[in-house]
Amino acid sequence: MTGDGADRTPGAAIDPPSWFSSGAAVSDPGIDEQFEREWPDCWERAGDLLDWERPYETAFRGGDTPPFEWFPGGRLNASVNCLDRHLPERKNQRALVWEGQLDGGRSYTYLELYREVNALAAGLRDLGVEEGDVVTIYLPMVPELPAAMLACARLGAVHNVVFAGFSADALAERMERADSGFLVTCDGYYRRGDAIAQKNKADNARLAVDRDVDVVVLDHLGQGVHLGEGYHDYCELIDAHEGAEVESVARDAADPLFRIYTSGTTGEPRGVTHTTGGYLAHVAWTAQSVLDIRPEDTHWCAADIGWITGHSYVVYGPLALGTTTVLSAGTADHPERDRLWKLIDRHAVDVFYTAPTAIRAFMKWGAEHPERHDLSSLRLLGTVGEPIDERAWHWYRDHIGGGECPIVDTWWQTETGAILVSTLPGVDAMKPGAAGKPLPGIEAEVVGPTGEPIDPGERGELVITRPWPGMPTALADGTDWGERATTERDGWRYYPEDAATIDDEGYVTFLGRTDEAVNVAGRRFSTMELESTIVGVPGVAEAAVVGADHETTGTAIYAYVAPEHGAEEADLRERVRDAVEDAVGSVAVPEAVVFTPDLPKTRSGKIMRRLLEDVANDEDLGDTSALRNPEIVGELQSRTPN
Ligand code: PRX
Repeated sequence: MTGDGADRTPGAAIDPPSWFSSGAAVSDPGIDEQFEREWPDCWERAGDLLDWERPYETAFRGGDTPPFEWFPGGRLNASVNCLDRHLPERKNQRALVWEGQLDGGRSYTYLELYREVNALAAGLRDLGVEEGDVVTIYLPMVPELPAAMLACARLGAVHNVVFAGFSADALAERMERADSGFLVTCDGYYRRGDAIAQKNKADNARLAVDRDVDVVVLDHLGQGVHLGEGYHDYCELIDAHEGAEVESVARDAADPLFRIYTSGTTGEPRGVTHTTGGYLAHVAWTAQSVLDIRPEDTHWCAADIGWITGHSYVVYGPLALGTTTVLSAGTADHPERDRLWKLIDRHAVDVFYTAPTAIRAFMKWGAEHPERHDLSSLRLLGTVGEPIDERAWHWYRDHIGGGECPIVDTWWQTETGAILVSTLPGVDAMKPGAAGKPLPGIEAEVVGPTGEPIDPGERGELVITRPWPGMPTALADGTDWGERATTERDGWRYYPEDAATIDDEGYVTFLGRTDEAVNVAGRRFSTMELESTIVGVPGVAEAAVVGADHETTGTAIYAYVAPEHGAEEADLRERVRDAVEDAVGSVAVPEAVVFTPDLPKTRSGKIMRRLLEDVANDEDLGDTSALRNPEIVGELQSRTPN
């Protein structure tokens, strides 16, 4: 669990500065009431941020239960919205600024990005990519990644971006599940100065996938790549189609734009599919109203595009609004710990959006790093991915925001596609530690175990009680999502599985997840997926994975492992780590592998994860009499590193 428990109360309210409000994209304090009065037509405001090849008939069509239709009748193309329509006014404005880790940087104007995307789309079409096909993209943070996404969108193909740090197995599984016969990847890339052999992982995944796969390989390191049968060189493909203009494929608003996998409770990756019209409208609207992005801005969302945050607020939101978006490879502390601040200074970044885990690392590294640079271009700061504690919030505002930038703490998830809970920075007071209210047009409550709204300050669970434009296709169609989407006596409800409190002004404070997932550095992993990997290691009898509070990453993964008799611990620890790295990736390797003769079990034999979580967090264990093996508790405590 992330956060510091149900007793977290937000800090005192801080009004938005008037210099900010007076120029903000949204500054009308009546916007909440207006959206409420005009729901669902209020969402035309989002739809009208886009160019439609065929206008939509109405913003929303649907009753109290699915199917829900967003912008029915409308047809559009996402790459046209992110590129073509900006050409008349800003073809020479930078669309994308890329900062590599070792090899300098590069930028693309809107015209240059348009050309790259068209040439690649023509190349992919030659390889047989058609409307509705799924193209997997397995690239690190290079400009060719958004170019490939937009090339797919241009053809009406569905992209399936897999985080570059994932292993070959994880890639293969996501390709299989998405039934994807195309892969775009690269030879390798640098991370903290080390070269990562991306193509080796892609090759292994291709062998594991049970179908023919055409692979496009970008020679990113420039050392030449060996290409066998079924492989194609990215640059040759682009060169062969230089100057091509590919007619964009108009898609229905509800047609899929992309697939992305996240971790579910079942231990298997859960595919989430987002729509072309509803998703893009919601992302553009929140980029404008919450992140306050405008075309003349330089916006930097420091998330990896491999996750939903990068899809929505590195690529689609900023580009739909015609702004300049920054893409940065590598890490914040390499070559020096002032890298981000140097880049904000260099590019005069207006809006900076990152995760609390990064902010806590900056705090640890010290204020002297940002102090060396001119950060006065910043107008707004954002956070996403996990709760931010008050101390980190103030540090962010004081040392990065010059003591005056408003901060938006934006709550959302892979499934929601775009921000649902946040303050509007030009309208609402900020309460450090609380994310904010459900945005205008979003209806949400905090409820108790029986689904009834609970009193302010009490711990409960967030529930979204009305559809939203960026909802995934499965929720809109009414596909079974188990207990997460239900129709109850008072209508349709979506449970994001987030614990929360709400105060008497409607501000929501998030307290971590209610499901069996751990959120490390803003990335979500399923405990079951990790456990089944660890249990598969020869020598492991049983395993349980929990999240422990961690100063920097918010939560760290602790694996409690009961070895088989006679297994050598040092060797087993390595094998557990390697297995997780192979199955999921290095980001999920446990911070601690704690060996124990047994796991704490209830009388019915269920592992008591809650108790392990308390042990990992060095918390009071309370009553342990329900345990079948209470003698194990002391053992666990003495072996856990705190
Ligand atoms: O628990 C919430 C947490 O991150 C989860 C979503 O994870 P994911 O789908 O990977 O998307 C991450 C980026 C959108 C949520 O269910 N979370 C996200 N934003 C916040 C948050 N927790 C607290 N405060 C936030 N601002």
